[in-house]
Amino acid sequence: MTVTLREVTQEDLPIFFEHQMDAEATRMAAFPSRNRDAFMAHWARIMSNGSGILNTILADDTVAGNVVYWEAAGESNIGYWLGKTHWGKGIASAALAQFLIKIEARPVYAHVAKHNLASIRVLQKCGFQLVREDLWNGDDGEELVMELRSECCATAANH
Ligand SMILES: CC(C)(COP(=O)(O)OP(=O)(O)OC[C@H]1O[C@@H](n2cnc3c(N)ncnc32)[C@H](O)[C@@H]1OP(=O)(O)O)[C@@H](O)C(=O)NCCC(=O)NCCS
Repeated sequence: MTVTLREVTQEDLPIFFEHQMDAEATRMAAFPSRNRDAFMAHWARIMSNGSGILNTILADDTVAGNVVYWEAAGESNIGYWLGKTHWGKGIASAALAQFLIKIEARPVYAHVAKHNLASIRVLQKCGFQLVREDLWNGDDGEELVMELRSECCATAANH
């Protein structure tokens, strides 16, 4: 299986919508699913504002998920989401490693729920390190803030 990235297209959005409807995924990410209107409005906004980088993750020719970059409050951030049928195959690690080669900004941050061990592992494999623990949405749970300062390690890219 080959993992590649390309720009997000309108045709990808219904697939991403289904990915973020999965209850196990929303528990992992500690991020609630959006209804279709809210989801499409969110993607319309981030696709039109031009400041982020939005990539679709392909596993061979199949849309497996997305990996995105955005700036908020002067910080560079990344995030990713895969459909459940694609978990556990090294796809997120390979995709993030490739994406980090495209993203020149350093440091770059990821906010991850403390219980999301798979995502924390993906970040660690790409060279992210813990910088602090915060409360999520005020007091809704705990998140780790992880930071990448240097170039991404090659190990995950070749996974
Ligand atoms: C988190 C997510 C991106 C992981 O994607 P993935 O393609 O399965 O990840 P990979 O296969 O590349 O790597 C997962 C790593 O975590 C490890 N892992 C998986 N579950 C684990 C667990 N419960 N405890 C510890 N490590 C775990 C795997 O063994 C693997 O590490 P390894 O390569 O050293 O063996 C995917 O599950 C997802 O999209 N979840 C829903 C959305 C989400 O949580 N997004 C991230 C928000 S910060």
